[in-house]
Amino acid sequence: MRRSEYIGLAERLLEHEANNTTDSAEDTYTVPVADYLDEARWNNEMEAIFKRLPLMLAYTDELREPGSYKTIEAVGVPVLITRGKDGMVHAFLNVCSHRGAAVVTDECGTASRFMCPYHGWTFNDQGALIGVADKHKFGEVDTEAKGLKELACEERGGLIFVVLTPGVPMDIEAHLGGMLDEIESLGIENWHIYKQVELPGANWKVCYDGYLEGYHFATLHTNTIFTFSANNIMAYDSYGPHQRIGFPHHNLGELRTKPQEEWETGEGMSVIRTLFPHVSMAGSDQGGLISQLIPGPTPEQSRTIQTYIYAMQPSTDEERAAMDASVEMTVGAVRDEDYATGFGIQKGMSTGANEEFTFGKNELGLHKFHQWVNFYAEGKPESERPNP
Ligand code: FES
Repeated sequence: MRRSEYIGLAERLLEHEANNTTDSAEDTYTVPVADYLDEARWNNEMEAIFKRLPLMLAYTDELREPGSYKTIEAVGVPVLITRGKDGMVHAFLNVCSHRGAAVVTDECGTASRFMCPYHGWTFNDQGALIGVADKHKFGEVDTEAKGLKELACEERGGLIFVVLTPGVPMDIEAHLGGMLDEIESLGIENWHIYKQVELPGANWKVCYDGYLEGYHFATLHTNTIFTFSANNIMAYDSYGPHQRIGFPHHNLGELRTKPQEEWETGEGMSVIRTLFPHVSMAGSDQGGLISQLIPGPTPEQSRTIQTYIYAMQPSTDEERAAMDASVEMTVGAVRDEDYATGFGIQKGMSTGANEEFTFGKNELGLHKFHQWVNFYAEGKPESERPNP
């Protein structure tokens, strides 16, 4: 994190802590519960948001060497991501151009060519069709036109972004805006994955809402997050649809006891950054938890891939034990507290008990998130683009 950004956040949080205030909206904000439940609405969200905006589907660390690849399915779309001999990342629909089988069926590996397991057509790591089995018996094939369908793909700041619809271009700089500097300042391209965990969740927005406020720390996370992080205080910034929230730790006030030059960047706070529409990044310059939230297969379901990724891997048994304990605490907090509550919300919504939810002024991140979902899912004109 850039030091100037840290100092700014720390000063804002110290002031909020002293005055028992928080960054907030001017008023409360209301959303219809139907927006979480309606299947047509959910389909619009998938088509207009998840199939057209850049999604973060891989890490540089997963595809470090030329020839490495990974597969992932997102909102029903099977994707193959490769790093070619040229060192560049490429993404394709993982769908054979013969009769549609998945060309690559394992999750990751190293290969310069991929043979479809059904009839043996072969593609290279740039997606070109380079071999048709028994071609003399098969007949003519326009190999140039029969490559894997390419998807727009960009690697920035250690993260690999893909657009799920062939032919839809990506302007990652325009999409991320000011958040790009934030990401690139972290140095994620040099981090290494320690552990990945997949968690089932309720509707994607129910889950995502939980990443955007600290109003629930004292009550829901009494014995986990709240043991170190204060409740209902935040320093909030948005970059278009992307958000950065600084949450003070209980020891933030110790900064008052020393000159600013001695404050260590990151000291006394957690920072959560969200990349619209589906990523939450929690941690410090030394790493932490990045969560990729993937909706479906129905409106009531989602899954979250948690990646614990750090600049330094533990090198002793003691360090490993400490890291395992930290990971276990975080997995438990999300799975048994946030997501367990999310499943309850899902059930509660279906009873009809609430026609709408009201987000408090202090839940500003949720206001912004839902305004941006509405903007895209309802196909609003540019003139109604939410304020950044
Ligand atoms: Fe892939 Fe036939 S479906 S070779």
